[in-house]
Amino acid sequence: MGIKYYENERIFKLDGKDTTYLIAVVDDEKFVGHIYYGSKIEDFQIDHLLRLKEAPFVPTENNRDRLAFYDSFPWEYPTRGIGDFREDCLAIETKEGHWALKLTYQSHKISHGKQAPQGLPGVFGDEKNASVLELICEDAQTGFEVTLIYTIFEDSDAIIRSTKIFNKAKESVYLTKALSACIDMDNAEYDLITLHGSWARERHIQRRSVGYGSQGVFSVRGESGHQDHPFLCLAESDANQDHGAVYGMNLIYSGNFTAQVHQNQFESIRMTMGIHPDGFRYLLEPGEFFQTPEVVIVYSDEGIGKMSREFHDLYRNHLIRSSYKDKKRPILINNWEATYFNFDTDKLLAIAKEASSLGIEMLVMDDGWFGNRSSDNCALGDWDVNEEKIKGGLSYLVEEVNKLGMKFGIWFEPEMISPDSNLYRKHPDWAIAIPGKTPGLARNQLVLDFSRKEVVDYVYGKMETILKSANIEYVKWDMNRPLSDIGSAYLPSERQGELYHRYVLGVYELQERLIKQFPELLLENCSGGGARFDPGMLYYSPQIWCSDDTDAIERLSIQEGTAIVYPLSTIGAHVSDCPNHTVGRITPFETRGYVALAGTFGYELDVTKIPREDRELIPAQVEMYHKYNDLIRMGDYYRIASYRENHYFDCWQVVSKDKKEALLTYIQVLNLANSRSRIIKLKGLDPNQYYKVDGMEHILSGNALMCAGICMDKLWGDFRGSLISIQAV
Ligand code: DGJ
Repeated sequence: MGIKYYENERIFKLDGKDTTYLIAVVDDEKFVGHIYYGSKIEDFQIDHLLRLKEAPFVPTENNRDRLAFYDSFPWEYPTRGIGDFREDCLAIETKEGHWALKLTYQSHKISHGKQAPQGLPGVFGDEKNASVLELICEDAQTGFEVTLIYTIFEDSDAIIRSTKIFNKAKESVYLTKALSACIDMDNAEYDLITLHGSWARERHIQRRSVGYGSQGVFSVRGESGHQDHPFLCLAESDANQDHGAVYGMNLIYSGNFTAQVHQNQFESIRMTMGIHPDGFRYLLEPGEFFQTPEVVIVYSDEGIGKMSREFHDLYRNHLIRSSYKDKKRPILINNWEATYFNFDTDKLLAIAKEASSLGIEMLVMDDGWFGNRSSDNCALGDWDVNEEKIKGGLSYLVEEVNKLGMKFGIWFEPEMISPDSNLYRKHPDWAIAIPGKTPGLARNQLVLDFSRKEVVDYVYGKMETILKSANIEYVKWDMNRPLSDIGSAYLPSERQGELYHRYVLGVYELQERLIKQFPELLLENCSGGGARFDPGMLYYSPQIWCSDDTDAIERLSIQEGTAIVYPLSTIGAHVSDCPNHTVGRITPFETRGYVALAGTFGYELDVTKIPREDRELIPAQVEMYHKYNDLIRMGDYYRIASYRENHYFDCWQVVSKDKKEALLTYIQVLNLANSRSRIIKLKGLDPNQYYKVDGMEHILSGNALMCAGICMDKLWGDFRGSLISIQAV
């Protein structure tokens, strides 16, 4: 394991748990080429894969002089303008108006131990576990220095890449494109898997075969977005959950992104990912540098399932930092769907009183407690408690909730400003807008210019005052509109192209300050549901509200797509009332519980008003959460069936790391007339271990349970579900 440099051959070998990544410095020119990323191999001299001696067409004496070489060479980090006409990663704009860069290897460093890049979220690991390779390259003509950074972990199959770009020239230069990573590989009939959606319909899985040209996903919304997701997966066309070669790529960033796959004339495939170049123009003065966000790349030779488990483990072990990272989260009840803006102290205490008697552990007060906020028309930015609603003040409310034995949490939307707010009346120039142009509203609000330190300081000060005024143990950080009308009254004209990125850095800085100042705080990110469910946010908060759609059936698809990359411990999921407020569907209360159990688990309903029979089920659900949450939070996730594909049922399983315990969740979405019980083959068990399965008479080996399976009884009606516990004996 680790990173090795073979000096004579000029090959770098990076070995992860079950994978190998090989990089070559190609002789004369010292170009940095990608040889291989895949299953672990002992050898390193496989640089024939670079096909250096082949002339793709019109052979000449000196292949290297020809553009055909540049346009087919598997670059580690392709640059614009030199003759590689595929998707590139790096482009500049010099004073003279040129954009080309040709990178050649200069030197390298290998080190151990890793921290996140300064000011950005990123992976971390100690000296025993994490190894880092820095390949220092330069463009001789401009003096630009580009360091390609690779991190691997002993306990992971992920490679984490980023790039640091230094302007070592004597003049200032604009960076117009700076992606984080590229992987070039030969075509093997790949499918492209991406996650797409909309508000209340996030991260549905889409699979299509890769064709010639560019295909992929992107966001220019200033956030990762409901619609597309900073994730790409290339899977051999016959790969499934358990078989086949699969490459996944995920960007640790929460702003604009591009994630592209490009198949070229020689059938080679290039995956690229990073900050979207649209609206990005970053001025680098001599001596300044730009650090790109990190990309996580995972290879699995055992299908999509293993890729997902690698992402889950990496994020749980090397990205999430919260003091709640390895802890059970308090079961919360949030008043949003219970009351919307229409609440006061009495209403909240009535909910808390009933909830605490049922075993719920925390009350979260959502939007509407501050300024004159009684609808979404006004008051964002006025972070002072509205004592007409919160009678007796916040500390009284929190004390009363604490007296019931419950924790208290609060909602903020720190990045926003309502035109109808005291803050806007005082500081209209704090909103992102183009001077002289009325900015477009979304949800009646504008976005604060977080590239300005004074704005970030102001919001932090307001939040700190509220958080110190009472025993507040949880914050839901919301963000309810994309960025538009990009203009900052603070940045000079030559730096307006930095606003998108500086905005994201401002968000990160504020979250960092918050969790440093309140290390025990449980922070849950949110963005109109799940518009900013990305690994960047997970560096600050161990959980993210997954979607405003709390309907158990829609959630099956949303949570399946989310769990392809993110551990169940991060997926904010609540039981809500029916008919569901988003789709009007009526599902059994038990089923809503089973689905929310595959996430952080909580409630989002008026517990004083729901039907008595539903309320009476809550204590058993609370017990179920306490019984299974350790397993769900820390175990290995296996997808068994997808209702998205079969139209009838959904099924997943979580297995403890020691394989002594497992839990199967089965949701029968539609009942099929005149059908029999279904045989479900379990996954991930120890074949030699014997298990007791809920409801089964015989003790069976893991081998039998995985090869022969168990019978899932037919359930009467639609939207029914069951949980099956599997215990080693
Ligand atoms: C959007 C969130 O996703 C909801 O849960 C809720 O907090 C509202 N915003 C409040 O405005």
